Amino acid sequence: MFFYLMHIVHLLTVILWIGGLAFVTMIVLPMAIKTPDALQKVLMFQRIEHRFASIARAYNLITGISGFIMMFMMGWHKLLFTRAGIPLTVMTMVWVFWFVMLFGLEPIIIKKMLENMAKSGAQMDIDGVFKKLNRMHWFMVAISLAAAAAGALVAHGPLSLY
Ligand code: HEM
Repeated sequence: MFFYLMHIVHLLTVILWIGGLAFVTMIVLPMAIKTPDALQKVLMFQRIEHRFASIARAYNLITGISGFIMMFMMGWHKLLFTRAGIPLTVMTMVWVFWFVMLFGLEPIIIKKMLENMAKSGAQMDIDGVFKKLNRMHWFMVAISLAAAAAGALVAHGPLSLY
């Protein structure tokens, strides 16, 4: 019973998290890029990204805790880094990437970078930075979808661990 509860918590949190990420990537970022005024562009994106990052930290923790509980309850941790456990390993690696991004890089590097852009205004290649941010966000959407697909493979079908 507890396992199924963890499964539902895991799935619902992933929906909110990756859905939010897709919204930022497909709606907010293109809107920011189209904003002509450099300062307005940075400030708009900075406020939304910063707020989303603090919620995403909670999503990351809940997804990780529920995922690790399920993994240990089933004894699947022994399969990490083995052939049979490839989908499980993919999910875990993507989660670790996000953990480092949200708890390490975002508060230190990305927040500082956006603050510097807001301060320095026209002296910086803001369009260049936004191009990089755009590429980075699409990369994060892609690996997160890969983790979700890997999760479905763990739970169902011929590669399932059951
Ligand atoms: C970004 C990170 C993650 C995403 C997007 C993700 C996504 C998913 C999805 C979509 C499922 C499929 C559920 C279903 O088909 O019903 C799933 C299942 C699962 N996930 Fe994750 N997951 C992530 C991280 C983790 C982590 C870190 C662990 C633990 C090491 C984990 C352990 C599991 C397990 C054990 C299942 C199978 C549940 C079952 O068989 O009922 N996940 N995940």
